[in-house]
Amino acid sequence: MAGTQQVLVKRISYEAERINSYELVARTGGELAPFTAGSHIDLHLPNGMVRSYSLVNDQRERHRYVIAVNRDAESRGGSRFVHDTVKVGEIMTISLPRNNFALCEQAEHSVLIAGGIGITPLLSMIRRLVALGRCWELFYAARTRAAAAFLDELGTFRSDAGLHVDFDDERAGRVFDLAAIVRAAPARAHLYCCGPLPMLAAFEAATADRPADRVHVEYFKAREAPATEGGFVVRLARSNRTITVEPGRTILDALLDAGIAANYACTEGVCGTCETRVLEGKPDHRDQFLSEEEQATNRSVMICCSGAKSRMLVLDL
Ligand code: FES
Repeated sequence: MAGTQQVLVKRISYEAERINSYELVARTGGELAPFTAGSHIDLHLPNGMVRSYSLVNDQRERHRYVIAVNRDAESRGGSRFVHDTVKVGEIMTISLPRNNFALCEQAEHSVLIAGGIGITPLLSMIRRLVALGRCWELFYAARTRAAAAFLDELGTFRSDAGLHVDFDDERAGRVFDLAAIVRAAPARAHLYCCGPLPMLAAFEAATADRPADRVHVEYFKAREAPATEGGFVVRLARSNRTITVEPGRTILDALLDAGIAANYACTEGVCGTCETRVLEGKPDHRDQFLSEEEQATNRSVMICCSGAKSRMLVLDL
């Protein structure tokens, strides 16, 4: 498969309640493709699912990728499949690393805010900031101490500005005051947040007045329902085919039904894998991958979740 590589599962470790880490090495030994802090890889699971997971290890490591998977109670099947079936010694197909949540390495100060499994991309960022000798601070909220992954390891990093952990069950009526954290951040700080949807919504509200290039958000899940209203056609300019998108189907569903090998991974509008150039027509954007400005240009569309506001979309496919 183009853009994929085969890896061997070398080690599986318990990191916290319902969270395991998986160490993946090149199947044939040697080095893996390089990555930068904040990157993710897609696992192509044997059951046909494709799921994205952040790399948690140090970007200077070329001999392995390490991901952490939360066995999510609301899992659509991906994390449950990984926990229940992936074993040490197994060969897996994965994508090359991609980074939609890049670290600004020159920032004077970085404020990292994590909720639960959202710690994963931030952990690789912390490793990078420590290696660069930059000033950073972490605010890490989790349900309980036992459910918080990587606590011991985080404790080994020295942060000039502070490393704050916060557990729902130890808060005694206090709230995790994200707005106060953002207010206290220096004006020139770069702010990063990864966690559950309510945390991301609070973060986006709290940072609305800050310059967009200093505010960084990583979504794991869709914020909006996919566009399945249908009732439009998609013309594929390169293959010269026209596909009708019926009600109840996404564009991606319709393409796959028609036997078209479209690229996709998360199917939730967060990973960017299915981004497709729009040549004509007006998409109904439902993704979290493109910025509002990018969506407004209508130059591309995430076909896994977005629909059309025009009767036809012409795509560069
Ligand atoms: S498949 Fe991830 S954004 Fe569409």
